[in-house]
Amino acid sequence: MVISASLCACVFLLTAVRCHSHVLPRLSFPMGSPGRSLTVFTNDDSYNATTLLLSNDEGTLFVGARDTILSINISQTDMTLKEKLDWSPSEKDFNDCSMKGKLKMDCHNFVRVLQVLNSTHMYACGTFAFSPRCIYINSQTFTMVTGPSGKPEEGRGRCPYDPYQKNSAITVDGELYTGTVSDFRGTRPVISRHLSEGSHVDLKLDDTLGWLEDPTFISSTYIHSEEKVYFFFSEIGKEYDFIDKFTVSRVAQVCTSDVGGQRTLQKRWTTFAKAQLLCQADQELPYNVLQDVISLSPPEGASEDETLFYGIFTSQWRVNLGRSAVCAFSLKDIKKVFTGRYKVLNRDTLKWSTRVQEQMANPGECGLHNASDNTLRFVKDNFLADKSVLPVNQGLTVVSPDKSYSNIAAQRVQGARGKYYTVLYLLTESGFLHKTVLLKKGAHIIEEIQVFHQPQMVKSLLLSVSKGAVLIGSSEGLLSVPVSNCSHYRSCAECVLARDPFCGWDLSQRVCKLITTSQNQLAQDVDEGKVSEQCSSVNLRSRSGQPQNTQTLCPPGEVLSVSLNEVINLQCPEASNLAKCHWERLNSQLSPKIFIQSVNGSLSFVATPSTLGHYLCQAVENGYTQTLIVYHIKQKNNPTILPSSPKITPTSAEAGNKTPFSTPTAPKHTELRPKPEDPSSTVAHKDSPATTTRKSKNFTPLISAEEESSWMNERSGNFKQVDKPTYLQELVVVSVLLALCVSALLTIAFNRFRHVCTSRTIAQTPCSRRDVEKGGSATPQERESLRGHSPRLEKRNGQAPNGQSHIGQAHNGKSSITLSNNMLNGSNGHLPNTPI
Ligand SMILES: *[C@@H]1O[C@H](CO)[C@@H](O)[C@H](O)[C@H]1NC(C)=O
Ligand SMILES: *[C@@H]1O[C@H](CO)[C@@H](O)[C@H](O)[C@H]1NC(C)=O
Ligand SMILES: *[C@@H]1O[C@H](CO)[C@@H](O)[C@H](O)[C@H]1NC(C)=O
Ligand SMILES: *[C@@H]1O[C@H](CO)[C@@H](O)[C@H](O)[C@H]1NC(C)=O
Ligand SMILES: *[C@@H]1O[C@H](CO)[C@@H](O)[C@H](O)[C@H]1NC(C)=O
Ligand SMILES: *[C@@H]1O[C@H](CO)[C@@H](O)[C@H](O)[C@H]1NC(C)=O
Repeated sequence: MVISASLCACVFLLTAVRCHSHVLPRLSFPMGSPGRSLTVFTNDDSYNATTLLLSNDEGTLFVGARDTILSINISQTDMTLKEKLDWSPSEKDFNDCSMKGKLKMDCHNFVRVLQVLNSTHMYACGTFAFSPRCIYINSQTFTMVTGPSGKPEEGRGRCPYDPYQKNSAITVDGELYTGTVSDFRGTRPVISRHLSEGSHVDLKLDDTLGWLEDPTFISSTYIHSEEKVYFFFSEIGKEYDFIDKFTVSRVAQVCTSDVGGQRTLQKRWTTFAKAQLLCQADQELPYNVLQDVISLSPPEGASEDETLFYGIFTSQWRVNLGRSAVCAFSLKDIKKVFTGRYKVLNRDTLKWSTRVQEQMANPGECGLHNASDNTLRFVKDNFLADKSVLPVNQGLTVVSPDKSYSNIAAQRVQGARGKYYTVLYLLTESGFLHKTVLLKKGAHIIEEIQVFHQPQMVKSLLLSVSKGAVLIGSSEGLLSVPVSNCSHYRSCAECVLARDPFCGWDLSQRVCKLITTSQNQLAQDVDEGKVSEQCSSVNLRSRSGQPQNTQTLCPPGEVLSVSLNEVINLQCPEASNLAKCHWERLNSQLSPKIFIQSVNGSLSFVATPSTLGHYLCQAVENGYTQTLIVYHIKQKNNPTILPSSPKITPTSAEAGNKTPFSTPTAPKHTELRPKPEDPSSTVAHKDSPATTTRKSKNFTPLISAEEESSWMNERSGNFKQVDKPTYLQELVVVSVLLALCVSALLTIAFNRFRHVCTSRTIAQTPCSRRDVEKGGSATPQERESLRGHSPRLEKRNGQAPNGQSHIGQAHNGKSSITLSNNMLNGSNGHLPNTPI
């Protein structure tokens, strides 16, 4: 009977059970998990694919990569190259670049500006061997065309020289607004406007002291109702002169109507103003270094003032290393700060203070074209707003104590009852995408999906709402992640516990599905995740509709035949990271002297007459208990039935666990995994990919691409060639015999345990997400997905996991400085907004 264990088809898709209770991503999908397949686009052209732009219809993704610009046709699950434009420096350019002392690999043309200019043309700029250049692109033919000047334009002030320097660019009405450094050494930062025509002249910042102080540009956005472009960056906060090199995050603004002054501030901004963005919790050091920022438009019908800017912030201090926070700022608050008082710089002492004299103009106000020289001199000196912009709700939106977030995308999602939820996609430095929903009680991380093997030096994130995909560009290529995969949740309880605003449980079809329009009949509870309220009607329905079904509401069971004195190791199937798992025995306690429950959720003990019997693994999440599996441990009575497989006893399975997945041909570490109730299906599953799905996650990072691809081939159904044919024949015969035995045993077992299952689970909802499919009600689709068919497996295969390892720091690595808390703590407990 032990063989039944080795036959069991593993339908559990995730790795080791973790039963923590802290705020964690609820589910984790390591690279290669079938539950969250990625679409990967990698070839030689897609290196350093870090400038992303979506066409207006979101059907085409334009990618600024290394020496090339790509146009890619995207759908939720596919990326195909449409067009490619080569744009590389010549041999001579390369040589000149090397002469300047630059590494050859950094002398390529890294495309860093890619914008739609007008209905017929796009505009792109690249570092071009440390000699930046810009080109026009005909959108129809996707070819380079010469601009008005007839030759490639110089990219100075539009694009950095150094590919590792960050910049920002945006086009508004055919004009290009950029934030970048404008010299080879990278010491002259500038915010400027280009491609202006007629009386609308190109503008830049005045060289006046303090307009920008060693900034790192992050992004920029245009707000139509304000006719302003906002720039987000971090820089040295000179107003905090008591701390050496204190980094502050800023929002700056210019008016698109600005044409500069007539004498004073000629060809210079007259509308530039900047303010501090303060992301800080009470009594804590501020998260002062901006990493990325994204704007979220207000809901339809609301004022544009309700626009929110979600920023990721890290801290320059070592005590906060590896932490990050998300803060949200509203346009309304930003406007208020810009219309308030301004600080003034004493040119003798170089100290900033709040202006006390009379205000001669309103700095930051649009429409100063014909202003007097006096007024312009005033605005020239008054560009730093006195107050800081504080986060909405005066607090941090998300804090991650152990993850450095680097990139963010945001979306408003309408849930099943029509209520809107904000979903953030946060990319970690280590290569995970955290899908997070913001709730009243705090952020809930629905899932984390691994998207890189290695940390990536430069990366970008773009959301296509209409395609339902998160697009990610990195040094190694491009990939796309669907925003959700509701079919991964296989029971009403799982679907509701996920608290994913995209997903709801369809009571009649009994599937967890994507919410398309406001569908009130779908069970969903994003705010509370209360299973008992949402899923009780499922029960009523299934009971009245299919009375026999209550029998199949038990978790999968497994019979293990063991020898006495053998060490038994029972595995509990995957539960969410938020579930607490525990083992139970019928009618007796689990004495810690005899039973070892390890952190990975397994239960170990020595088989003795008194430890034979039934064991249940239960998961409690959000007040809802489900039985994940029932084991029946019995004494081995008929050893002759054992085939010659070395992997069938629990002890050898344990031995196997010590060197997990060391060979690609090891599809059998699933011995002690739960198996489906229907024994005939265990045979059917033997060769199916589902038998190995659990491994894919553990497995992928540990093996080379070659091994992986050979393993993938096996996955696609060639196990027979690996196993000995004789073994297989025996197996089939034995399996059929076993099928009968097991079904008989299981029938007994389940009759005995039906009362357990029903009494242990709240409101008698299905005990496990898996049993639903195994009941007669499973649709072919469900069965298909059970077997783990994933059409995108081959794509994943294409990804080379052998990229260089980068330490994602050097970028804007502001030097860490140490300082005592009382230095920082002003009288009000946080960094004083008013400099001393
Ligand atoms: C969704 O999840 C199911 C079950 O885990 C899996 O079979 C399927 O491939 C997944 N689909 C995507 C697009 O990730
Ligand atoms: C993009 O791809 C989809 C299918 O993947 C196809 O139907 C469509 O025609 C393609 N569009 C273009 C412009 O190539
Ligand atoms: C778009 O801009 C290009 C380059 O300046 C110009 O040649 C072209 O005429 C413009 N097209 C339209 C429709 O304005
Ligand atoms: C302001 O200056 C513009 C030219 O820059 C001129 O056309 C306009 O008449 C002036 N308006 C006033 C009120 O002086
Ligand atoms: C470009 O990508 C390579 C790896 O593919 C990486 O080593 C390099 O640092 C990247 N360069 C830039 C400027 O991002
Ligand atoms: C869980 O831990 C136990 C003991 O620590 C070990 O024997 C077992 O192999 C582990 N299981 C998994 C799946 O890692």
